[in-house]
This record gives sequence, structure tokens and C-alpha cells, in this order.
Amino acid sequence: MKRTGKALYHTALSGGVTYKGHQQHYFQKDGSTAFVCDLLSIDTLPLEFSRCDILYSELPFEAGFKIFESRVGHSGDRSYKNLCIKIDVLLAKSATPAILICGKKTLKFLSSRVTERPSSINGGKAMLAFYGEPFEWLNGSAESVVEQLAIRYNCLGDFMCGYGRTARVAIDHGKRFVLSDYNPYCIGYIEKELGGAG
Ligand SMILES: C[S@@+](CC[C@H](N)C(=O)[O-])C[C@H]1O[C@@H](n2cnc3c(N)ncnc32)[C@H](O)[C@@H]1O
Repeated sequence: MKRTGKALYHTALSGGVTYKGHQQHYFQKDGSTAFVCDLLSIDTLPLEFSRCDILYSELPFEAGFKIFESRVGHSGDRSYKNLCIKIDVLLAKSATPAILICGKKTLKFLSSRVTERPSSINGGKAMLAFYGEPFEWLNGSAESVVEQLAIRYNCLGDFMCGYGRTARVAIDHGKRFVLSDYNPYCIGYIEKELGGAG
């Protein structure tokens, strides 16, 4: 699978570039998959994730939640707290171990986690929250964590995939991915970047 150019990262921070090219709801390529899924509208993780060896996602920080919501046309009654609690419940039900990158304040909503450790993402402070097992061997920044996961596992899942950093690292290590995000521009961007459309 080929990928092209310098990749975007889906951030709510000012100065971040937002992709406005084509939208996509589902694609498959070389045994990997990406699709649209709103975590607040489901009660169990989509079946596609059951073939992953590990789940890894970079959660929005609380300050960015409304910005991501507005990009998919949501406003009003949806809350950051409910999103984090939903993720916690989904992971507690899942048989696949999982790692979340999140802000320190978010941990209070992640009550089913096994443990947590300090980390960083894009140069700023963050926490790692672990589900299913304590991952004692895993440390460092988000960028290094996803790299270590791609070395160790054959199929990586990310249910908040944004513009697909997890997919790019998986591909660089010859591995597969299952991705989802509620923003169809994210899925469109990843498809385009992998040379499948656009
Ligand atoms: C910090 S970004 C992840 C960035 C990503 N790692 C990348 O490589 O660009 C968080 C992502 O969560 C997604 N998101 C927020 N709320 C969601 C929800 N309810 N369901 C699914 N995805 C959601 C946003 O669209 C955003 O892409």
C-alpha cells in the first residue's frame, strides 16, 4: 500500500489544517479498513475491530471537543463527559486490550482502566490509560507508543483515527489497520492519502 506527501494531523488547536476534499464512509484496501462511526451512537464496538490485536486511540482534549463536534454538524446536548464514559464502557466490554492517550483530567471518566502512566502527544503533556492489561513494557510519547505497537502487533485498531497517524505507522511496519472516526472527511483523507481516491 502506497502513501503520498506530508500527512495532516486532525487537531482542534488553532493553526491546524482541516481537510475539505472528499468525504468517504467506508473503504477497504489490502486487508485494512476505515469507516465512519459515531461512538456516542453505539453500545458495542463495531465487529470490524474484533480482528485487531490492539486498540489505540488519541482522544480529544476537553477544550477541543466542541470544535470536533461542530466539524460534523453537532451542537447542543452532547457532552465530553458522556463521550469519555461511553468509550470506557465500550472498552470494558471489549475482549481486545486497549490504550488511550488523553488529558490528565479525562482519567476521572475512565474508571474501567487497569492503570495509567504519564506520556506526551505532539510535544505536550498527556496520559496513557490502559485497558485489559497493564502494558508494563510500554512507555514514552504517543508517537513512540504507536510505533512500538506496530512493531509488536499485526493489526492495529483506532476508533478515533482522525487523519490516520495509526494507519501510517502500521503501513510503515507492513501491518494492517481497522480505523473509524465520525468525520467522513477523515476517512476520505486517509483513502486519498493511501492512493485509493481523490
Ligand atoms: C485528537 S483527534 C485524533 C487525531 C488522529 N490520531 C490523527 O492522526 O489525526 C480525535 C478524533 O476524535 C474524533 N471524534 C471525536 N468525537 C467522536 C465521536 N463521538 N465518535 C467518533 N470519533 C470522534 C474526532 O473527529 C477526531 O478526529
